[in-house]
Amino acid sequence: MCGIIACSGVKCAAKVLYRGLEDLEYRGYDSAGISVLEGDSIVTVKRKGRVGELKKGIEGMCGTAGIGHTRWATHGKPSDSNAHPHACGKFSIVHNGIIENYAELKAELMKEGAVFFSATDSEVIVHLLCKYYRGDLKEAVLCTIERLKGSFALCILCSDYKGFVAVRYRNPLIVGMGGGAVYAASDMPALAGLAENVAVLKEGTVAFAVDGEISFCDFAGRPISLTFSPVPASARSRSLCGFPHYMIKEINEIPAAVKNTAAAFEETDCAAKLFRLAKKSAFTQIMLCGCGTAYHSALSAAYMAEELLLLPVRAETAGEFRYRKTSVNRSTLFIAVSQSGETADTVEAARAAKSAGAYVIAVTNVPYSAITAVADMVVPVCAGTEICVAATKSYCGQIAALALTAAALKGPAEYRRAAAAVKSAEAICAKVIAGCFSEDAARACASSAAVYFIGRGADYPVALEGSLKLREVSYIPGEGYPAGELKHGTIALIDGGTLTVAVITEKKIGEKTASAVEQICSRGGGVGVICADGCAPAGLKERAEFFIEVPACHKFISPLVSVIPLQLLAYRTAVILGRDPDKPRNLAKSVTVE
Ligand code: M6R
Repeated sequence: MCGIIACSGVKCAAKVLYRGLEDLEYRGYDSAGISVLEGDSIVTVKRKGRVGELKKGIEGMCGTAGIGHTRWATHGKPSDSNAHPHACGKFSIVHNGIIENYAELKAELMKEGAVFFSATDSEVIVHLLCKYYRGDLKEAVLCTIERLKGSFALCILCSDYKGFVAVRYRNPLIVGMGGGAVYAASDMPALAGLAENVAVLKEGTVAFAVDGEISFCDFAGRPISLTFSPVPASARSRSLCGFPHYMIKEINEIPAAVKNTAAAFEETDCAAKLFRLAKKSAFTQIMLCGCGTAYHSALSAAYMAEELLLLPVRAETAGEFRYRKTSVNRSTLFIAVSQSGETADTVEAARAAKSAGAYVIAVTNVPYSAITAVADMVVPVCAGTEICVAATKSYCGQIAALALTAAALKGPAEYRRAAAAVKSAEAICAKVIAGCFSEDAARACASSAAVYFIGRGADYPVALEGSLKLREVSYIPGEGYPAGELKHGTIALIDGGTLTVAVITEKKIGEKTASAVEQICSRGGGVGVICADGCAPAGLKERAEFFIEVPACHKFISPLVSVIPLQLLAYRTAVILGRDPDKPRNLAKSVTVE
């Protein structure tokens, strides 16, 4: 899972690619590289580390066409030699995806005399191109593709061709045109400052870009056409707007994310469509899938939907779902949740559910993403581009979209209640962001050896999300678990060096969570509490090292409100510990590999 970019017909390809790679860096930051066509030869610079490491190396590089890559390592550790582009003979390539049959291809190619310089799966691609090239670029590309199993978005330079070739199979790739130049990139924002018009490559497309023109064919070589449209405005906002990090900027964008998601739900007439669907299809079960944060919002929605619809509703991580025999069938409503819409496990889970006969809804922040092509219906999340690897505003947008979805499936009256609740969330979230934070809480976290998060009912998925957020940006170990489970094992880990954060947004159930707090305090563990106004059981506040109050609100929006202090806690803790909250180690924003 990496970011790739290509350009042709620009003044200085290296400069354009470098800028584009900065925009794509959130997709992986283990190494980066650029190849540029200079006259009849290809010049390559690649380095371990972040894109910035290329700056010196590309000085003086000229040439009007080139390709670039920013890597999240899968096969082979981060190093200069494993960095892309991979070059051989007349070719240089960048790849996003996984070549599943690389080992057998590598053995075959080595037998024929090919010399490999990296431990990557991707390098086989460039050797295949060399093997099949007899002066006909299209033929070499098509023969190469035919040999590959797995997933791939590719950009290819050939020293006999003055432009580049781009290929898409199961990994995203977008092409753009403007000012006489042609571009390709893994995502829209990387093209926003460059192209005027863009088109998302369809599955199984090859694009040939040269002399300001672009033509397309399928994997059998038959010509196909694509429609270009202007770069969407949402792809253009990349500035930090005075915030020190994207994470805090994006937390501050939560009110707008919730508001815009509700507006899009209305504009696309989702409520009526869902109600009609529920009436017509008489679903017997609902299954929700996602990964990481998206799984947590799916789990929150499962709690909400089951209570509303009185149907079996389950949420599962997509990576588990796709390899299990399940009861999903024609009477199942399957809801796939993904910010990027390109998480491989979630897209494949949606595909699996669809082939089992389920009706598939995609809840996504990216309207042109892979998952939208699989789904029968798309419920939009309008959080705007999320750059920080840690998901924040997209989680809140997902909860809003999912609450509206669950209510709309029930019927118009329930939908009106949910819509009113979501409408109120904008102001509530703004209030929480502005006021509900304590620096003491972040200091308590930063000085703890481990931090646990507990909650019951609707607060349990929020506890999971609080824990994931803190772990991924601060690297402090811990976990989230249901408050009732504490005494069944994890209590063995509690001592004076640990902190447990309890989430309580419902009075009755809060009393149960409070008994878990008692048990932790009796073992010397520190406790912090996130509590909805008026829900605190007697004596809880006094027990806590920190106590953060959030406004009590409707169950439809409670998970998106109570998560905010946890997101802020994770952010501030990361900053105190000197971590980079936007680009945590070992992570990348879009996980387009299994
Ligand atoms: O793009 P997606 O929503 O499908 O991504 C799923 C997860 O990879 C993502 O939520 C991940 O867990 C985030 N880093 C969490 O902050």
